[in-house]
Amino acid sequence: MSAIASPSAVALKNVARRFVTPSGDVLSALEDFDLSIAPGEFMAVVGPTGCGKSTTLGLIAGLARPQGGEVTLFDAPVTGVDRRVGFVFQQDAVFPWRDVLGNVMAGPLFRGVAKDKAEATARDWIIRVGLKGFEHHHPHQLSGGMRKRVALAQTFINNPQVLLMDEPFSALDVQTRELMQEELLQLWAQAKSAVLFVTHDLDEAILLADRVAVLTTRPARVKSVHTIDLPRPRDVATLRYDERFIAIARKISDDLREEVLRARGADARGH
Ligand SMILES: Nc1ncnc2c1ncn2[C@@H]1O[C@H](COP(=O)(O)OP(=O)(O)OP(=O)(O)O)[C@@H](O)[C@H]1O
Ligand SMILES: [Mg+2]
Repeated sequence: MSAIASPSAVALKNVARRFVTPSGDVLSALEDFDLSIAPGEFMAVVGPTGCGKSTTLGLIAGLARPQGGEVTLFDAPVTGVDRRVGFVFQQDAVFPWRDVLGNVMAGPLFRGVAKDKAEATARDWIIRVGLKGFEHHHPHQLSGGMRKRVALAQTFINNPQVLLMDEPFSALDVQTRELMQEELLQLWAQAKSAVLFVTHDLDEAILLADRVAVLTTRPARVKSVHTIDLPRPRDVATLRYDERFIAIARKISDDLREEVLRARGADARGH
């Protein structure tokens, strides 16, 4: 191994995260967790429900501290919430009382950008995510897919160098989901952020990512990491029928199924 490690945008080394349950037991969510994401890399993470995926994102976002090991951003320890990190949640995290423009402007205003500059940039992002004409609609007047677009604009406007996404499209219907996946890939190709994208959907992980990490059932460890050497740009509507895609999906799904079955077995035994 070379003495100089390659730079990473995000790294978790030997990380442990444990919770004390209401009954006083210790619940171990992550143990010996190692994962590294290069600058500009798109990493997807799949694993059984409840294994510790959201917990992992929370550590990187600086919302919680690990009990063991180290979490770094660009090779410096995470000490709290960091402006270089953007977070897109599974549920809508838009402000319901603000219109689309107000939502998209929120980040720059918070960072102290002058109002007219923030507004001009926000209008530009609203066009890029296909919401022109909806600047003064409020979230309840938008469809689920449109609210996701607001969330993407709201995040990308801050130029995150690291983008954490927690099952962002799982509540959408299949067609809207495909559109959003395509839009995300286009935005990412321009922004060049490092992405950590959590999903239950293995096809989605393969369609989007440079590498897919499969987590074990709790306590989560990285079971395997698969390089997805499908060319870009990718056509998310047709790629899943490509035989290279199918071969990759078959290989990873064996790994994932094993863990999902283990998780079910543990549940059935009351763990
Ligand atoms: N604040 C907390 N206090 C106690 N236990 C917690 C806390 N946060 C998470 N856990 C536990 O840690 C484990 C991992 O939770 P996490 O939300 O990371 O799972 P996940 O992989 O994101 O699941 P899903 O796929 O269902 O979203 C779960 O057993 C959960 O109950
Ligand atoms: Mg989760």
